[in-house]
Amino acid sequence: MTNPLLSISRLTKTFQVGSQKVNAVRQFSADVAAGECLAVVGESGSGKSTVANMILGILKPDTGEIRFAGKSLPLRRSLIHRRQIQLVQQNPYSALNRSRTVGASLRLALDVHKIGARSQRVNSVIELLAEVGLEADIAGRYPNALSGGQCQRVAIARARACNSQLIVLDEPTSSLDMIVQARILGLLNDLRLQRQLTYIFITHDLAVVRNVADRVVVMKAGEIVETGQTDRVFTDPTHPYTRRLIAASPVVTEEEQALREILRHTMEN
Ligand SMILES: Nc1ncnc2c1ncn2[C@@H]1O[C@H](COP(=O)(O)OP(=O)(O)OP(=O)(O)O)[C@@H](O)[C@H]1O
Ligand SMILES: [Mg+2]
Repeated sequence: MTNPLLSISRLTKTFQVGSQKVNAVRQFSADVAAGECLAVVGESGSGKSTVANMILGILKPDTGEIRFAGKSLPLRRSLIHRRQIQLVQQNPYSALNRSRTVGASLRLALDVHKIGARSQRVNSVIELLAEVGLEADIAGRYPNALSGGQCQRVAIARARACNSQLIVLDEPTSSLDMIVQARILGLLNDLRLQRQLTYIFITHDLAVVRNVADRVVVMKAGEIVETGQTDRVFTDPTHPYTRRLIAASPVVTEEEQALREILRHTMEN
């Protein structure tokens, strides 16, 4: 790949748990092009979130390098580095501060990253909410007064606050019911196309992968066992583990069909 936006080489992370060493991630390498959606799949404990946290600078890799737009990211990230890559987590309620209104949380992100003029930031909060399909009056509410879907939209708006090109999504729809999940995936697809965003999309749900990802990385016990274009991986998986994952996932369920229809609809409009 020429000039990837993100280039990850040979990341390794070991945790010491008591007297035991856990090899959470071994020699993880991947390139992500600008505008691409790269899915990272694998069973629970395969190391997906550890990779995400190293990309975000939350965890320090033991070895390996992460380059963003051609430049190596340091272990200690500056505010500018943190602005470049944002996270959306699985549980939006724990991601947002319960004692702050939605407006205050979004405003804080704008203030911390010094986005726009101070006097403009009230408007920016409303624009961010509109971008994720929420009305301005949501700004006055606390997270516990929102539905799971609304709360995840706020988390996406916050990730968008500093206009990052790259968003790491760690199981962003896993805690939502099927219809809400489909709508959030539709929103993420729209944002990616409209704003030329780049996603690293972590999920254990292969139906989601088939519908949103350009390419897939399959992880098993901390290592990549297969990488490829989504269509190729699903039609002609090369690694036995990928074959088992696909075989264990229903071919096309009614829910996936519903998801496809909602996604098709959001992409046409
Ligand atoms: N802070 C930590 N301390 C010790 N071990 C950890 C820590 N974080 C992760 N691990 C271990 O590292 C391995 C990879 O964990 P990780 O959370 O990255 O998996 P995952 O693929 O995200 O799983 P899930 O799908 O359940 O979220 C697991 O064996 C986990 O127990
Ligand atoms: Mg995880």
